[in-house]
Formats: sequence, C-alpha cells, structure tokens
Amino acid sequence: MTRPSTYEHSRYLEAKRTVDDRALHRPTLDRLREALADRSSPLRVVEVGCGTGTMLRRLLAWEVLPDDVVYRGYDLREEVIGRAVEELEVWAEDAGYALEDGDPDATRTVRLDDPEGGTVTATFAAADAVELARRSDAEYDLLVGCAFLDLVDLDRVLGPLLGLVPDGFAYFPITFDGETFLAPSLRGDGSVGDRTERAVLDVYHATMDAPDRPGGSRTGRELFAALPDADAEVVAAGGSDWLVTPPYPGDEAYFLHHLVDGIEGAVGGALADGSPAVADGDTVDRLSPGMVGEWADARHRVITNGQLTFGAHNLDVLARVESDD
Ligand SMILES: C[S@@+](CC[C@H](N)C(=O)[O-])C[C@H]1O[C@@H](n2cnc3c(N)ncnc32)[C@H](O)[C@@H]1O
Repeated sequence: MTRPSTYEHSRYLEAKRTVDDRALHRPTLDRLREALADRSSPLRVVEVGCGTGTMLRRLLAWEVLPDDVVYRGYDLREEVIGRAVEELEVWAEDAGYALEDGDPDATRTVRLDDPEGGTVTATFAAADAVELARRSDAEYDLLVGCAFLDLVDLDRVLGPLLGLVPDGFAYFPITFDGETFLAPSLRGDGSVGDRTERAVLDVYHATMDAPDRPGGSRTGRELFAALPDADAEVVAAGGSDWLVTPPYPGDEAYFLHHLVDGIEGAVGGALADGSPAVADGDTVDRLSPGMVGEWADARHRVITNGQLTFGAHNLDVLARVESDD
C-alpha cells in the first residue's frame, strides 16, 4: 500500500495538530496571552473555519486563554463539527474538567467546568462564517482563523470578520505564504524528477491564485497591508513553517499522504480544465496528467518508506482591531 485507500478531512486536521504545535510562533502566542489577560471575563472568542477544534484545545492547554471563556466555532463542513465536539469532550476529561451534559438535540454546546473555578462554554456550528459575520451584530474579544485566510477572498472577507471584534484582537496563525518543498530529490525515481516536481508545485501555487477561486498563495505577507487598510494594527507576527521529517510522529504520515493527494487533485484539475493556473506555456509543456499521477505515486512511495521531508512557509499574525465608534 503506497496510498491510503480513503481520505477524510477531519483525520487530516487531527493529523495536522502536532505539525501546527511545532510550527506556531511562540512570541506571537505570548503576546496574545498578554493581550487577553487584560480583558473582562468571560473572554468571548469566535473561531472561523474551526475544523475539528484543535486550536481551542491548544489555547486552553497552553493557558493562552483565561479560565472563563465563551467560545463559538464555525465551519462549513458538518462532519468536522461533530468531530470537534467529540475531541473536546475526550480532551476535557483527560485535562480534569467536569463535563456538563447539554441538551443533545440543541446546538453542539459543551460546557467544561474547571475544578479550580473556571468555565469554558464552547458551541460549534456548521455555517458559512463569512456570511454569518456579515449579518451578525455579535461582538467578541478575540477572532481566530487558523489556516483559513489563504482559502478566502481576503479583500471581501477581512472587513466583515474584523467587524466581529471591535476593540478586540484577531489572530491568524498558519497563514500560507507561498513556499512548499519536498525532499529528498526525486532524481532517479522512475521518469519523474525535480523538473516535474517544480512544475507541479508551481501549478499548485498558481491554482491558489487563479482569478476564478478565492484564496491566495501569498496571503501571509498580504496581511501586512490588508490589516492596516482594514483599521487593524499588527502587534505581533512571525514564521510558523510546517516541517515534517521522519520518523513521523502521531498521524503525520497520513498528513503527508493527504497533502500529496490534495496537490495532485488541484494540479490535475487545473490541467484538465485548461485553467489560467497553467497558462504559462513553459509549465504546460512540462506537465501532463500522467506525469502528475506519476509524481504523486513517487511521493506516496517515499512517505510509505518513511523518507519524505515536507516543508511549507506560513506566517502567524496578531492584530489589534480598532473600535468601530
Ligand atoms: C485548512 S482547514 C483549517 C481548519 C482549522 N482551523 C485547523 O487549522 O485545523 C480550513 C477550514 O475552513 C473551513 N472553511 C472554509 N471557508 C469557510 C467559511 N466561509 N466559513 C466557515 N468555514 C470555512 C473549511 O471547511 C476547513 O475545515
């Protein structure tokens, strides 16, 4: 078996947790902890594209959040929301919280009581967080969007999202910023080599920038202009590069297989539709769907053999949002 037989978004997000744990920029997290210490209680947190809720668990475990928190997490995918509730309950029991039974038919709310007095009330819902932000007049102290902004149209989305935190903070960790690499070199592995890989990665990044889809391959650096334009001041930032090297901890081999499969799908799709992402004649000449499949086979093999190193460049950005009055 060189490729997993099935792929699951929630498994990918849980596998990504340990990669993000290593990657997150600690000084930015320290600045966030410091900023939140002055806020009134309970701290109101909203997370957009919350996935399986790894960031909430992490911010609690790492004591970045205070003891009393009211949290709302939104994700488009229903399947990840169920997983977020399950994982939070398992984590909370291990961490010594008492779990309050909620109404199982109501929204997915979990209430965690810390024996030392704090309470975390977390509600997860399947919803388009951007649409919700446009319509909502709810206010929060902290907005979190992890590995999120590179998937959306920054110009259209940032204003409504920041409107959720007037006079609060916005934390955008693991925002992709344009570089991906895989090692060792493929030279000598069948007919695909470094040139093919370079072309695959170029087209992959170009698919993120295609005019007909939201998101961008350099969103991390774009935030340094986009946030001030949206009346938010960057107060801390730093690199949060993903680096996965053998031997793979946790489920990180799956994380790598999932990424290679995602790259193959994006590049194969762009070649099939003649998307503007592959309009660069040089790249088109060098790539065919068969070569992309061969490239993916070769990379899945190297992962299965426990030899692939993968890196991607991300940025973490923390901003203070001006009051709207
Ligand atoms: C790369 S995943 C990151 C998930 C999570 N933040 C993490 O880091 O583990 C991005 C998530 O954003 C969600 N998403 C994308 N656009 C969204 C939107 N407009 N509203 C809510 N969720 C969205 C996707 O369903 C996906 O689960």
